Amino acid sequence: MSADPDKKMDLRRSEMFDFQGVSMTHYFTDNWENIQNFQARPDDILLATYPKAGTTWVSYILDLLYFGQTSPERQTSIPIYDRVPFLEIMFPSMESGVDLANNLPTSPRLIKTHYPVQFVPKSFWEQNCRMIYVARNAKDNVVSFFHFDNMTLTQPDPGDWSSYLHRFKEGKIVFGSWYDHVNGWWKKKQTYSNLHYMFFEDMVEDTGREIDKLCRFLGLSPSVDEKKQITGGVQFDNMKKNDMVNYSAFPVMDFKISPFMRKGKVGDWKNHFTVAQSEEFDEDYKKKMKDPTLQFRTVI
Ligand code: PPS
Repeated sequence: MSADPDKKMDLRRSEMFDFQGVSMTHYFTDNWENIQNFQARPDDILLATYPKAGTTWVSYILDLLYFGQTSPERQTSIPIYDRVPFLEIMFPSMESGVDLANNLPTSPRLIKTHYPVQFVPKSFWEQNCRMIYVARNAKDNVVSFFHFDNMTLTQPDPGDWSSYLHRFKEGKIVFGSWYDHVNGWWKKKQTYSNLHYMFFEDMVEDTGREIDKLCRFLGLSPSVDEKKQITGGVQFDNMKKNDMVNYSAFPVMDFKISPFMRKGKVGDWKNHFTVAQSEEFDEDYKKKMKDPTLQFRTVI
């Protein structure tokens, strides 16, 4: 995902449009054919999230679990977005996510997507790949996304907070409705057993416990020392100062507006929602989130 210095970067704020019923921008649909024809391998691991739910955090954990011991040089030489390519991304003058994934020398290949479940290329299902979904409560998710859209100069202009919040409820932000996304993947888990569904809030509460669960799903058994090292390395403060995972080298973000590793908290929504906004949000939430088996925590 590093920019080609010989080519002029032509990146600008994008417009959103309806793509098969999901709000998208062209950066994530331009390569659609190649994405849909992507040939997954049985040991590929697909990390799926709605944006801002903890993708980078879990990407880093996965990379450390698989390659932290065998290829420690990766940790200081390759940014996380090149170690765990973003399948659908297609920025001018940068290698596409599909090309990056195809060129990964690792086994397994770790691949990330923000697509709703119905957009996942069929070969991942055919190959029965392991998939990990990370979900974050809607209120913190929308706050994080709002800051991200402000600082990421390829995202549509987010406008002010109140109109952004309104659009979030309507599903009119990039990658569509949060409600459809988390529910779609949750429903898939009932029929596709190779899917591990995680929650950002559980990770904040007890990272070690969640890494244990992840390892059980992946069939990994890191040593006590290794696990301790990973759990420590992926704490927010350590990731924030780690240039290989904090996106400081990513070309389209303006860190003067907001850092990528912003707060990493559960409950920051309270600093953004007014009481009225919170009440309205909760009312609307109840109507959209009917499945009692899928529960989120907005405080821990
Ligand atoms: S992206 O752009 O979709 O890939 O973003 P993503 O990585 O999914 O989400 C970014 C948010 O995750 C927070 N984060 C963490 N929180 C706690 N601990 C750790 N280690 C951690 N790593 C990333 C990051 O700070 C963003 O959340 P906010 O609320 O904006 O701080």
